[in-house]
Amino acid sequence: MNRKSFKIAFFASHGGSNMHAIIDACKSGFLQSKPSLLISNNSKSGAIQRAINENIPYFHISSFSHPDEKIRNNQIIQYLKEYNIDLIILAGYMKKLDSEIIDFVNGMVLNIHPALLPKFGGENMYGMNVHKAVIEAKEKISGATVHFVNSYYDKGKIILQREVEISPNDSPESLAEKVLKIEHIIYPEAIKLLELNSF
Ligand code: GRF
Repeated sequence: MNRKSFKIAFFASHGGSNMHAIIDACKSGFLQSKPSLLISNNSKSGAIQRAINENIPYFHISSFSHPDEKIRNNQIIQYLKEYNIDLIILAGYMKKLDSEIIDFVNGMVLNIHPALLPKFGGENMYGMNVHKAVIEAKEKISGATVHFVNSYYDKGKIILQREVEISPNDSPESLAEKVLKIEHIIYPEAIKLLELNSF
């Protein structure tokens, strides 16, 4: 079978625990793809420290470092070109990607959302907002969704989802912990499906 190996660019704003999980999966041989670039809009992001440890080239690009949107997007595209990136992985990236960037990699942009889309998705549904809404809605299950990214928040094609059970005494915080554990499993699995052409 002809398995693909992607050159991955991570986009992260915070700790980047999903980035850590995917790098681990590449190092263990579960994935054949190569972590090749990190773009972070937060110079204090934990993702940058991991990139340094792994010798992954990284760049801090934000609306502070590059106030002009066009120049900022051009700079990002320049790096994608330079490092031959063919898969972008959003790992807690708090900025909407411009369609120019999505088109540059032919739509090969993935995100993970901490709920079972299409429920609990949309513009303000991120981080703890999602888990609070799920608990308030008295849902019995939540989960995580890996999906392609398009120009609409959380509307791209779904690749993989996994459920977690919500117990009556779960808080948004405890639910977030449960879901994050699942995220670290299904994000590498979703990339593997793409490597194997089985999606
Ligand atoms: C995760 O909950 C993910 O679902 C969302 O942002 C959070 C990022 O976590 N997209 P991390 O930075 O990967 O730890």
